[in-house]
Amino acid sequence: MEQHPKKERTFVIIKPDGIQRAMIGEIINRIERTGLKFTAMKFLVPKAEQCWSHYNKDEKWFAEKGAKIAKQIEDRGGKLEKEPIEYGRDIIGQLVTFMTSGPVLAIVIEGNQAVGIVTKLVGGTEPMTSDVGTIRGDLTLDSYDLAGLDGRAVRNLIHCSDKPEEAEREIKIWFDESEIVKYRSIQEAMLYDVNLDGMLE
Ligand code: PPS
Repeated sequence: MEQHPKKERTFVIIKPDGIQRAMIGEIINRIERTGLKFTAMKFLVPKAEQCWSHYNKDEKWFAEKGAKIAKQIEDRGGKLEKEPIEYGRDIIGQLVTFMTSGPVLAIVIEGNQAVGIVTKLVGGTEPMTSDVGTIRGDLTLDSYDLAGLDGRAVRNLIHCSDKPEEAEREIKIWFDESEIVKYRSIQEAMLYDVNLDGMLE
């Protein structure tokens, strides 16, 4: 039987900048008040191998990102110091360095359209161009240009999965299925149940 849409799962990590800037409560509050359900949380310092598995990008991704970065460098009047694809590979290397620099909070979240709702709340990858009202747009200020200039990862507070299949792949990297709690939250009746008999005394 096909899984009910209210069981969709997504995966979030509050990154080292989110922890150090004391944003755990603010970020969790923004997600929690939608009605989505938290089913697992883990506070940890990630291992580099775990981060490499998490950001499993292919050659096409390196080439496309690398070409964009190379163009930005040339547009600024800079000179390329390596093949464009190498700039794409650097993104993930820098992200791994960033993600292993301190504690993060990994979270599994469940509910109808969990991936889409969290993606909408989180906003675009680059804080400078993320929409106002989003976590990245409201709570931080980094840009690709600044991060690129200093050769470091973009500090954008949070990672979230961009597709349900990707969420399932990522969850396996950070959690054992036995660590994910299956429970019914009281508010789910109001969010999803067809029959609301019993409300009135
Ligand atoms: S994409 O665009 O959807 O294919 O990429 P995405 O999966 O969101 O990106 C993976 C991580 O790479 C970082 N990223 C970048 N850093 C610097 N410059 C550029 N242009 C760039 N594009 C992507 C970004 O931080 C993504 O990590 P998360 O953890 O998802 O923010």
